[in-house]
Amino acid sequence: MKIFEEEYGYLKSLLDKEITKVIKKTEPKLLYDPSKYILASGGKRIRGVLLMMTARMFGVDYKTSIHAAVGVEILHLFTLVHDDIMDHADSRRGFQTVHKKWDENVAILTGDILIGIAFENLLKTKTDNLTDIIRIFNNAIIEVCEGQAYDKDFEKKDNITLDDYYLMIEKKTGKLIESSILIGAEIGNAGKAEIKSIKNYGTLIGKAFQIKDDFLDIAGNENEIGKKKYGDIYESKRTYFYCNALHSFNRSDSAVLRKVYNEDKKETADINIIVELYNKYNLPFLAKKEITALINKSITVLKPFKSEYKTHLENIANVIGKRKH
Ligand code: IPE
Ligand code: IPE
Ligand code: MG
Ligand code: MG
Ligand code: MG
Repeated sequence: MKIFEEEYGYLKSLLDKEITKVIKKTEPKLLYDPSKYILASGGKRIRGVLLMMTARMFGVDYKTSIHAAVGVEILHLFTLVHDDIMDHADSRRGFQTVHKKWDENVAILTGDILIGIAFENLLKTKTDNLTDIIRIFNNAIIEVCEGQAYDKDFEKKDNITLDDYYLMIEKKTGKLIESSILIGAEIGNAGKAEIKSIKNYGTLIGKAFQIKDDFLDIAGNENEIGKKKYGDIYESKRTYFYCNALHSFNRSDSAVLRKVYNEDKKETADINIIVELYNKYNLPFLAKKEITALINKSITVLKPFKSEYKTHLENIANVIGKRKH
């Protein structure tokens, strides 16, 4: 067994190579150029790696799980292309977003075709559990859309609680991460009890992943994250920070937060005020604490698994805590 960093690097390069090969067609260019552009843009490939490492833990080689891993990564790309339209985002993975480089119609269609291409690859998986796998994959699409609907709806609402926040992130982000792991377990013919534990692991790291994403928007380095910093504040997103601010800020600070959040056009000075307030109330520290708690819990949940490959899943949980992009 290779050490974790080598294994992750190996699987990521395998996925990069496979993903850039999935489209053979060239016409219509307006559809296939942006599709190839986004497929070649890189990214961490964490969902695909999770799927393959989970299948490996259940005794399945990478050759068998690669197609499903390509499938979940392409499905993830569909969500990103449409998410960037919805969030008015200009950059992703350090490149211009598809709707900026082309236009919104092109980006809608690019996202749409990626769903089909994702299924095409998933269906290449040699397994007795294909029907269950398709059900998990399809359900992920439905729940991501529900999560994204909450995300947009909440932008206009002042009274979003942490419970609302967790409901939204478990769907918009957690579900695809959890599903990638579940598909890996299905490919590995995992038993009922094993599936229950591994699902729990997925739910926990999925939540940690989105809180970390919210954290990086406030505290990350723009070059490293490859996205515009403070995008969540500009777009009035109900993040981990905003939802905690609502019940920890004093009355006047709360009023400032609400006022800035209710403005359509926000100035840099307004953004700085909000970031200062988040820091004044130690919210980045609180976010880090919550991420660590979720990750530690996810590692505890893995206890029943005996395979040596389990350490890869423990390490990947820790990567979510440490990641800088
Ligand atoms: C970004 O996902 C969208 C979220 C769910 C927060 P990633 O952070 O996994 O993006 P890439 O694939 O590495 O670019
Ligand atoms: C990610 O939420 C959810 C999906 C893409 C489905 P964000 O909107 O926070 O993701 P980023 O920050 O744009 O990557
Ligand atoms: Mg979004
Ligand atoms: Mg976004
Ligand atoms: Mg984000």
